[in-house]
Amino acid sequence: MTLLKITQIGHPVLRQVAKPVSDVSDPALQQLMDDMVATMLDAPGIGLAAPQVYHSTRLIVFSIPAERLGPDDPPAPDEISILVNPEFESLDDEQVTDVEGCLSIPQLRGLTPRFQRIIYRGLDREGRPIEREAEGIHARVVQHEIDHLDGVLFLDRMCDLKALAVDDELHHVLRRTEQEREE
Ligand code: NI
Repeated sequence: MTLLKITQIGHPVLRQVAKPVSDVSDPALQQLMDDMVATMLDAPGIGLAAPQVYHSTRLIVFSIPAERLGPDDPPAPDEISILVNPEFESLDDEQVTDVEGCLSIPQLRGLTPRFQRIIYRGLDREGRPIEREAEGIHARVVQHEIDHLDGVLFLDRMCDLKALAVDDELHHVLRRTEQEREE
């Protein structure tokens, strides 16, 4: 396995619509899956899309540790998920705004709305179909990673760029949001 260089915001590959995979068994693609998993775990991150390692290919990986689940979130899959040609649809209109970051946008985090409940589909690394319902952070990660395949970054989804901050200053944003909620 090889640790890959992570694409940083500004590189055009992050803004391209990635190409669908036609042959899941392609050895180069299988290698890319292993390298992406290793790169994500090393970063560390909870999700990674192929454009983030300079491959304009519809492939994402993610792994959500139990400690990242919110108090109301149902369990996420234990294993590392590899999803080829993924798609999702929302199960209802409810959107939830929460903190999001991205390995391609170092240090910054922002309050980003996402659908709370989705169903997503794709192929696993053997080409078998996967279909799962997801909620909370699991649904958020899948939406974030699929956005990468369409050239969309979490910044594009934010309603108010004043809710963007570096890690160390994020508490100001959260405090302000909390105050606005109370007003
Ligand atoms: Ni990202």
